Amino acid sequence: MQRPLLAAMLVGIALPAAGPAAAADLDPAALLEDARLFFEPIPLAAPVPDGNVLSRARIDLGKSLWFDPRLSRSWVFSCNSCHNLGMGGMDGLPASIGHGWAQGPRNSPTVYNAIFNAAQFWDGRAADLREQATGPIEAAVEMANTEERVLATLSSMSGYVDMFAAAFPGEDEPVTFSNLAKAIEAFEATLITPNSPFDQFLMGDIGVLDEQELRGLQAFIEEGCITCHQGVNLGGQEYYPFGLVERPGADILPEGDRGRFEVTRTAIDDYVFRASPLRNIAITPPYFHSGAVWDLETAVAVMGVAQLGADLSDEQIADITAFLRTLTGEIPQVEFPVLPEMGPDTPLPEPM
Ligand code: HEC
Ligand code: HEC
Repeated sequence: MQRPLLAAMLVGIALPAAGPAAAADLDPAALLEDARLFFEPIPLAAPVPDGNVLSRARIDLGKSLWFDPRLSRSWVFSCNSCHNLGMGGMDGLPASIGHGWAQGPRNSPTVYNAIFNAAQFWDGRAADLREQATGPIEAAVEMANTEERVLATLSSMSGYVDMFAAAFPGEDEPVTFSNLAKAIEAFEATLITPNSPFDQFLMGDIGVLDEQELRGLQAFIEEGCITCHQGVNLGGQEYYPFGLVERPGADILPEGDRGRFEVTRTAIDDYVFRASPLRNIAITPPYFHSGAVWDLETAVAVMGVAQLGADLSDEQIADITAFLRTLTGEIPQVEFPVLPEMGPDTPLPEPM
């Protein structure tokens, strides 16, 4: 079976004439119509998460919590340590380093646009950002803290007590772990990167992509990448075996990390991972949950073989990579907050 056909069947739509011949007659207007079937631009305003409120006070509190290393037992790690907002929202390491300088098992995904993912983590084990937010604070290899100690820390600083009261008006005891999660989620909802060249194209500015980028978009659709990478984040929605057609080597897909199998304990989820969101992919190397691949061209070639059984030509790889570079959006300007002062009862940092 031909690959474009397979892709069309998987996606359930009829594709226009596909294959190498189609690349020759590049029609930007028709390509825009196709692209609009699969992709959506990032909205200009932050989406409001269910059951949350994006008030100024709540976003500001979330921002302080995001940057505050005193949420960690050692006072060394903040959320920003591993999701550096000045560096694409990740740490640039193959696998993150946390408490006790221990290396975790996986690469840190970007937090930019994470709000648009159907579930969080490489294996989707957290339903949303709110559920995700308290995980790293308590994880032994990340911030190694406890709920009790975090609440004692926050309650000991009058600055935080006031901020929680303003962010959660009318509540008798606003300093809670679940309110902390809500505030972090509210801040994370603002971490979106609209207006990438591809978004401008989707909004109708056909001239913004050059010929190579258009060819890359066409190949991305026709070769079947869209089967798994679609929607506003070009991924982040569904789960697939990494190695659907051909399993990559253990350097790229380490045997010890079985992905969603660890979450569901069912055989069909062995080595299944969330199809990665591809927004800002050019600025977030290294790639894959193992962080084993440093350049985007190689990551594209690996995907071709592993997920599609396709030996993409050098030209196709260059074209697709050029298209992926158009997914880099406007990174929001975030001002580093002045954090509340410690009080007389603040629990002191513990050596790692
Ligand atoms: C020591 C490094 C480290 C720290 C500190 C850390 N994270 Fe992470 N974060 C990671 C890694 C690694 C993953 C991926 C883990 C996985 O998929 O199993 C991750 C995943 C995430 C995700 C999921 C993104 C996605 O696309 O799935 C979000 C959101 C996130 N972290 C937010 C936070 C917040 C909020 C904090 C602070 C409370 C924080 N992180 C602290 C390393 C860290
Ligand atoms: C059958 C589903 C599927 C298809 C088809 C597919 N991918 Fe993927 N893609 C995934 C999954 C799953 C991952 C996560 C792999 C992992 O666990 O590291 C991924 C990861 C990636 C990554 C790395 C993202 C990161 O943040 O590290 C890139 C880049 C990528 N895909 C591009 C492509 C391109 C380009 C194509 C077409 C040639 C393609 N993919 C086809 C499912 C797919």
